[in-house]
Amino acid sequence: MSDKYYITTPIYYPSGTWHLGTCYTTVICDALARFKRLEGKDVFYLTGTDEHGQKIEKKAQEAGISPKQFVDKQVDGLIKVWDMLNISYDKFIRTTDDYHEQAVQKIFRRLYDQGDIYKGYYEGWYCTSCESFFTDTQLVDGKCPDCGREVNRTKEESYFFRLSKYQDRLIQLIEENEEFLQPKSRRNEMLNNFLKKGLEDIAVSRTSFTWGVPVDFDPKHVVYVWIDALTNYITALGYGSDDTTLFDRYWPADLHLMGKEIVRFHSIIWPAMLMALDIPLPKQVYGHGWLLLGGDKMSKSKGNVIGPMELVERYGVDAVRYFLLREVPFGSDGSYTNRSLLTRINVDLANDLGNLVSRSVAMVLKYFDGVVPSVDKVEDIDNDLISIANDMFATVKDYMDKLDAPSALVEIWKLVQRANKYIDETMPWTLAKEGDTSRLATVMYNLIESIRMVAVLLRAYMVETPDKIFDSIGVPEQLRGFDSMTFGTMPAGYSVVKCPPLFPRIDIDKDLMEIEG
Ligand code: MSP
Repeated sequence: MSDKYYITTPIYYPSGTWHLGTCYTTVICDALARFKRLEGKDVFYLTGTDEHGQKIEKKAQEAGISPKQFVDKQVDGLIKVWDMLNISYDKFIRTTDDYHEQAVQKIFRRLYDQGDIYKGYYEGWYCTSCESFFTDTQLVDGKCPDCGREVNRTKEESYFFRLSKYQDRLIQLIEENEEFLQPKSRRNEMLNNFLKKGLEDIAVSRTSFTWGVPVDFDPKHVVYVWIDALTNYITALGYGSDDTTLFDRYWPADLHLMGKEIVRFHSIIWPAMLMALDIPLPKQVYGHGWLLLGGDKMSKSKGNVIGPMELVERYGVDAVRYFLLREVPFGSDGSYTNRSLLTRINVDLANDLGNLVSRSVAMVLKYFDGVVPSVDKVEDIDNDLISIANDMFATVKDYMDKLDAPSALVEIWKLVQRANKYIDETMPWTLAKEGDTSRLATVMYNLIESIRMVAVLLRAYMVETPDKIFDSIGVPEQLRGFDSMTFGTMPAGYSVVKCPPLFPRIDIDKDLMEIEG
């Protein structure tokens, strides 16, 4: 059986509106999942929703409906966003799913029975927005250190998880296994700001509200929402149920990807829980940076950020996916502005990629009646193009192994840009005028073959464009895979057809007026 690859996004709070930042983790995971599938791996890509907790209960109260009615509506909305972005998840877990709730209860009871959970009394601060507990000293100016919002004083009977017991093993794990927590900046942060300062046991149940998984042996308690949520990574695979086939096949996770603000939960609490349950640890936890939604001009008329659905409707799914994958240097933060999105579309997609395809196809139609000619007269100048094309796959794969989609795309664009330059250098129109059909044939073949190789790799990042390109340059199914990444694999003789503009050029100022009001 082929290699397995289990990749997860965090499960989303279905509490607010979806903005482009929300889509960031999911789109990166999607590109990784698609890439690994194209490599022939047996991929399991999990996402879902984190539906319990005080925040959701409050929102539902404000809306005047039950928490379940509230989350059902919200989850429908989120699934529409994922469908629109063509997210290829293999499973969508909801923490209100029966099988998940039952497994959470079993896990909680087991940890209690073996002494890793004990009953006590919690007094401290709680940030409802982050669903996090804080001590006096952790607050920053009396506010939540993570999101800056107001925190509430909480005093309630609570069960505690013996996190302190796992401190030494966690330090050892993070210090000795570099791959476990990435990037390096997050490793240092976890070690210095949390682990080495000393871990305290954490409260893992609440009694001041009811929207959560009840502790079955003490039902006035509900399980703390983060404990409930983190277990999704194993309950989704059937852990704690009668059918553990998926768990046996896919666990441990190859990658938990998330934003940097929740690395603490994934690299400290989650591995400690797994250690307590005697379950192997995930291979990697990666905390990416944020898409900063700066720019007060954005959607001024509405006073909020422009939604992903609106952007997809306007500019197409691949433009939005490309922007998310390309714009933020991986691991760091990056800014979204409407102008930066439109500029990427015009420069990278319409000019570089779109023009390359339309110009090349138009020339094959004009000079060779639409039939891709065979290589006839080779010149030195061809070698540069061919070697960039031949080296591209290994480099892109290398970047994807490091989860660095932006650099992978830069690498693919090197070929796109080289091919455009190749047109300028070889001047096919002059070759045609001079009647040098042999040389013209070679140039056309090299262009179409380069475009094919670009489109094969783009299948990991884009969901409509690669097929449009394949259809236009006549690439059969068997030449669309990663096993065809050697230059010259496509034989001559296939027919091209005119390709409608892949990414129509945008009048940026006019569009900005329209979307920003
Ligand atoms: N429910 C928790 C996760 C529990 S996992 C066991 C949660 N949910 S969330 O909805 O707030 O965030 C989901 C993902 O979206 C996280 O990876 C988060 O970092 C990401 N993003 C939300 N806004 C973002 C940006 N503006 N930029 C990049 N990613 C961001 O946390």
